[in-house]
Amino acid sequence: MQIRPAAVLLGAFLGSVSAQTWCGKNYMASSPVVPPGGQFPVPAVSSKPLLAFRCAPAIKPYLPEDVSSPAGILIDTFVTNSEIAGAEPIDIPALGELGEVLVTVSVDGHELVTGGVVPLNATKVELPFSLAGLKPQKAAFNVSCSATYAPLGAKAQTFKSTAALSFLPDPPAGRSVTKMDLRTGALLAKPATGKGGSYEPVLPTGFYTNFDGYLASNISLVDQIKAEGFTVLHPIPTFDNLTALAEVVQRMEEVGIYLMYDMRWIYMNLTGLAEEVNRIKDSPALLLWYTGDEPDGTSDPLNATTLAYDLIYELDGYHPVSLVLNCQDYFWTEYTAGTDIVMEDVYSISNNVTWSVEWDTPCTPDYGDCGCDNCKGSLQDISDRLDEFAFRLWVNGWDRTKAMWGVPQGFGAAEYWPEIPTGKQWVAQSVLSINHGALGVVSWAAPTTDDITNSASVLAGSLSALTQYIASPGAEFQHVLAGQVDVGLWTVGAKTLVLATNLANESAAFDLGSVRGLEAAGARQVLDSGASIQGQKVVFEPTGSGGFVLG
Ligand SMILES: *[C@@H]1O[C@H](CO)[C@@H](O)[C@H](O)[C@H]1NC(C)=O
Ligand SMILES: *[C@@H]1O[C@H](CO)[C@@H](O)[C@H](O)[C@H]1NC(C)=O
Ligand SMILES: *[C@@H]1O[C@H](CO)[C@@H](O)[C@H](O)[C@H]1NC(C)=O
Ligand SMILES: *[C@@H]1O[C@H](CO)[C@@H](O)[C@H](O)[C@H]1NC(C)=O
Ligand SMILES: *[C@@H]1O[C@H](CO)[C@@H](O)[C@H](O)[C@H]1NC(C)=O
Ligand SMILES: *[C@@H]1O[C@H](CO)[C@@H](O)[C@H](O)[C@H]1NC(C)=O
Ligand SMILES: *[C@@H]1O[C@H](CO)[C@@H](O)[C@H](O)[C@H]1NC(C)=O
Ligand SMILES: *[C@@H]1O[C@H](CO)[C@@H](O)[C@H](O)[C@H]1NC(C)=O
Repeated sequence: MQIRPAAVLLGAFLGSVSAQTWCGKNYMASSPVVPPGGQFPVPAVSSKPLLAFRCAPAIKPYLPEDVSSPAGILIDTFVTNSEIAGAEPIDIPALGELGEVLVTVSVDGHELVTGGVVPLNATKVELPFSLAGLKPQKAAFNVSCSATYAPLGAKAQTFKSTAALSFLPDPPAGRSVTKMDLRTGALLAKPATGKGGSYEPVLPTGFYTNFDGYLASNISLVDQIKAEGFTVLHPIPTFDNLTALAEVVQRMEEVGIYLMYDMRWIYMNLTGLAEEVNRIKDSPALLLWYTGDEPDGTSDPLNATTLAYDLIYELDGYHPVSLVLNCQDYFWTEYTAGTDIVMEDVYSISNNVTWSVEWDTPCTPDYGDCGCDNCKGSLQDISDRLDEFAFRLWVNGWDRTKAMWGVPQGFGAAEYWPEIPTGKQWVAQSVLSINHGALGVVSWAAPTTDDITNSASVLAGSLSALTQYIASPGAEFQHVLAGQVDVGLWTVGAKTLVLATNLANESAAFDLGSVRGLEAAGARQVLDSGASIQGQKVVFEPTGSGGFVLG
C-alpha cells in the first residue's frame, strides 16, 4: 500500500492542486462525481453451449535438467454458456455422456502430444510430453494445441488454442530459479542460501518491512524475522543506501529467507528498472520481483506494468513478477496483463467504507476514497475480491498462468483505519485469503504490534504442514461457507487438510460431519489461532482460526 497525502495537508494547497483520483474516482469534496470507467466487462451469455479449450505448460520454466523426466501440458475443456476467452460453439449431445476430445500439441510442426484423451468439461488434465526434441532457448516456444470432438454419429469439430512454453537454458552461474507450478499456482524454489537443495513448494508468508531506519540500521532483524518463521521478506523502498541494501540481501542469503524485491518507485522508469534488476538478479535469495504498488489506484499508464514485465523477462527471466492492485474494478485486465502474480490489498478492518473520514465525502462506485474500494466493511471483502479476481482470470484465460496472493492488513491507527487488527483478525484474513485461492500472504507492514507478529509467526509455523496439501498437484479442493465460518478442504489420498476461520466476532462451531467423508477422530491440529476440535465439531473463539489434518 502507499500512504496518500493527508486531507489536512492538502487542504492548504487545495486552490492550486488539480483534481486527484484514486481508482479513477474523484475523492476531494471540491471535485464532481465522474464515473471512473475501466470496468471489467460482464461476459455475454450464449444460447448455445461453448467450449473454452485451453492449454498451458504444467511448470514455468522448464530447464535442461527437466529433460530426463516427462514434462506436462495442462488441458482445460470448460463447457460453458459464458463468452469467455477462446470459447467457441460446440454441438454436444442433448442426453447422455459428453464424451471426450482428442488433443494434439505441437511446436513449429513438431508434435509433443498426439491423441491425448481428455474428457469434455474437465480441468487441469495433464498430458505428459518429452522436452527431448526441443533445444532450450530464451524466448518462450509458441505451442499450438488442438482438440477434436467427434461424438458417435456426429460431425467432428476441431478447436484450437495456444500456449507459451518456457524451456530455458541453465541460468548463469549463481542465479537462482523460481518456477511456477501451474497445476496449483504455487512457487517452487531451492533454498534461499544458494547452497543447493531441491525445488520445494513455497507458500510465502511475511511482511512488507521498513528498510530505512529499520532493516538498514539493524541487520540482526533479518535473523529475527527468519527465527520467527517467516519465509519471505519484502523490504519497502526507497533503498537510498546501497551498501546497506547489499548487506541486508547478503544476510538474507546467509540465514535463508527469500527476497521479494520491490521496485514500486522505479518500475515506470525503464532505465532505473534495468539498473535494479541487474543489481539484484543474481542473489540466490531472490524469489520474485514486485513492480506496481497499487498502479490502478494512481492510474499509472495502462501499459506500465506490461512494459516493466517484458523488460524484467528480458534482463532476468528466471523469476516471476508480482504486483498489487487496490481497486475493486479499474482496468484490471490491463494492469494484470503485466504480472504473473496479482495480489489484492483489501483493508476493511475498522474503516468506514461508505463515508471518507479523510476527505469528508461519501464513497460510492463513482466517487470517494475510504481506504477500501467498493467494500462493504467486513472481512468478506477480502474473499469477495479474490473470488472476483479468480473469475476474471478464468474469463481472460489466465487461470492457469497467473496466481493470486493476499496482503493482510497488519496496520491501523492511521489514515482511514482507526484500529489496528488483532492477531486473530490477522490470521483470519490470511486463512480467508488462502481458502479463496491466495498462494502467498505478505502483510502491510512490519514492524507491527507484538500481537500481530506473534499470530503471524504461528501461521508461518504451520506452513510446512499446510503446503503439503495446498501446493499438492493431486489435491482435491472443496470450499464450504457455513454461516460466518469459512472452510477450505484439500484432500490428498486418504488425508484432508481442513483450514477454517470464524469471521464473526463471537464464538462459532463447524460440524465436520456436515462434509461427506470427514471424520474428526484422530485429527491432528496444525494451526491454532483460537480453534479446537470438540467431538465432531471445530469450535472457534471470536475471529478464531484453525488448521487440522484429518484421516
Ligand atoms: C460442466 O461442469 C460444470 C462444473 O462442474 C457443471 O456445473 C456443468 O453442468 C457442466 N456442464 C455440462 C454441459 O455438463
Ligand atoms: C511466438 O509468437 C509471438 C507472437 O506471434 C512472436 O512474437 C514470437 O517471436 C514467437 N516466439 C518464438 C520463439 O517463435
Ligand atoms: C537489533 O535487532 C535485534 C533483533 O531484534 C535486537 O535484539 C537488538 O536489540 C537490536 N539492536 C538495536 C541497536 O536496536
Ligand atoms: C550506509 O550503510 C552502511 C552499512 O550499513 C553504513 O556503514 C553507512 O554509514 C551508511 N551510509 C550512510 C550515508 O548512511
Ligand atoms: C530514471 O532512472 C535513471 C537511472 O536511475 C535516472 O538517471 C533518471 O533520472 C530517471 N529518470 C526519471 C525521469 O526519473
Ligand atoms: C505507453 O502508454 C503511454 C500513454 O499512456 C504512451 O505515451 C506510450 O507511448 C506507451 N508506450 C509504449 C512503449 O507503448
Ligand atoms: C460512517 O460514517 C457515516 C457518517 O459519519 C455514519 O453515518 C455511519 O454510521 C458510519 N458507518 C459506520 C459503519 O461506522
Ligand atoms: C469484538 O467483541 C468484543 C467484545 O464484545 C469487543 O470488545 C470488540 O471491540 C469487538 N471487536 C470488533 C473488531 O468488533
